[in-house]
Amino acid sequence: IPPPPLYYPSFPIGQQVPLQAKNESWSFPKDFWYGVAGAAYQIEGAVKAEGRGPSIWDVLSHRVPSYVITNETGDVADNNYYQYKEDIARIAALGIKAYSFSLSWSRILPFGSGQVNEEALRHYDDVIDTCLQYNIIPQVTLYHWDLPLYLQNSYGGWLGSEIVDDFTAYAEIVFNRWASKVHHWFTINEPIVFCGFYPLPVGFFKNTTIPPKQQPYVCGHNVLLAHANAYHVAKSVNSSLSVSFKTNGGYKIQRTNSSADAQAVQRAWDFQEGWFANPTFINGDYPPLLKDYVSTFLPNFTEEQKAHINGTADIFAHDAYTSDFIMAPDSGIDACTSNSSHSLYPQCYNTTKLYANNYWAIGPAGDPGTPWLNKATDWVPAFLHYMQDTWKPKGGIAITEFGISEPYEELRKDLASILIDPIRSSYYHDYLQAILIALSEGVNVVGTLAWSIYDNLEWTSGYGVKFGIQYVNLTTQERYFKASAFEYVNVFNVYLEK
Ligand code: NOJ
Repeated sequence: IPPPPLYYPSFPIGQQVPLQAKNESWSFPKDFWYGVAGAAYQIEGAVKAEGRGPSIWDVLSHRVPSYVITNETGDVADNNYYQYKEDIARIAALGIKAYSFSLSWSRILPFGSGQVNEEALRHYDDVIDTCLQYNIIPQVTLYHWDLPLYLQNSYGGWLGSEIVDDFTAYAEIVFNRWASKVHHWFTINEPIVFCGFYPLPVGFFKNTTIPPKQQPYVCGHNVLLAHANAYHVAKSVNSSLSVSFKTNGGYKIQRTNSSADAQAVQRAWDFQEGWFANPTFINGDYPPLLKDYVSTFLPNFTEEQKAHINGTADIFAHDAYTSDFIMAPDSGIDACTSNSSHSLYPQCYNTTKLYANNYWAIGPAGDPGTPWLNKATDWVPAFLHYMQDTWKPKGGIAITEFGISEPYEELRKDLASILIDPIRSSYYHDYLQAILIALSEGVNVVGTLAWSIYDNLEWTSGYGVKFGIQYVNLTTQERYFKASAFEYVNVFNVYLEK
């Protein structure tokens, strides 16, 4: 077993987070929701049950060698499709307030559109009703990457403009069914990932004529139009619902004082959060820098579309795991222009994390120049202020995913050591303290969702990269709380206003 990293944790492995005296000037507002999250393909399993149609992830995991590096699939996953009652009961017992999960589009509409599968509707009825029975707030995402295969094959999925109507029709079914029971909604999860960072294997799905360099921006364009339609559908069913989409990205720290690095930081904001947040929160349109640098690839919105998209997110729902150092690209800024052979944002800036492997760093810690950046308290408050000041979300900010894959956790063999996860415990402890600081400084943070309810299929990384606050024995499907589960809840036990 390789040695644990030197830069972290702030206390020795094998010990719990030290007890600290309560800071009396901190508190979470009474209605702050704290929960856990999962997503359909990562946890459900039961991929052939009760009329589910295939999604692109069934094909990617089964048919593209090493797309999931371990060649694992979501066929069984955490068996959540059959064990959801137990799963919800366990988080209720822990004292968790909210459960965020995604719907499998291809369960509800096996062909992506057309014939509705009633068994799937009844399944999710029961998941939602079980949450309500246990006094858990259900929070539902419509799309977490598992596109119905049929839509990919028919018109290239998110690259086809047909997706906008198909997503809208799906949203109508969903909101008409559950708007009276579910208040918190997310339309689409992390579009920069499935449009940009996680391209489908080139040439595997052959039905698009859009050149590869243009694909991320066409995908993003359709995402924004589909999201806006879904938002308006939801509001027409019940205007009081909270509806947003989920963005993601780390806090961007300028690596040096140079103006080249300052410009790279601005590009990083615009090419990550701003790509989707500016249209929805600011003016219905892409950030100016995006239009400058990738004008050749970026489709335009009509004035009518801009008006339709602007204002379609009630909270700033952000998946914020870490911070990144940002610096100008080695190849120079020209590499980022529309005339260059590159189109995607990594050419517009460089980013570093401590680890180059699958483990996610807590921040750009361990950099000898900036040892003070190794704790969430050093970047999370700044990040929350930045989000509030830049996008001014009327319903506040929610951290809709945060968590860490603890280095070398998958190598631990005995249960006792698996269940003591000091780095994750410390991460949650520090991160929540950082949110308390931001709250005390006037940032309107309304909720947090820990990723994840339990270890699950970490997409292309397989099951070995673990983000759970519960361990799942994948042979017996037994669940066990890790220490971090108690640490997470305990911060709220101490600081939630009674
Ligand atoms: C973001 C994604 O939404 C989720 O599916 C993934 O497992 C976590 N981050 C961790 O990578």
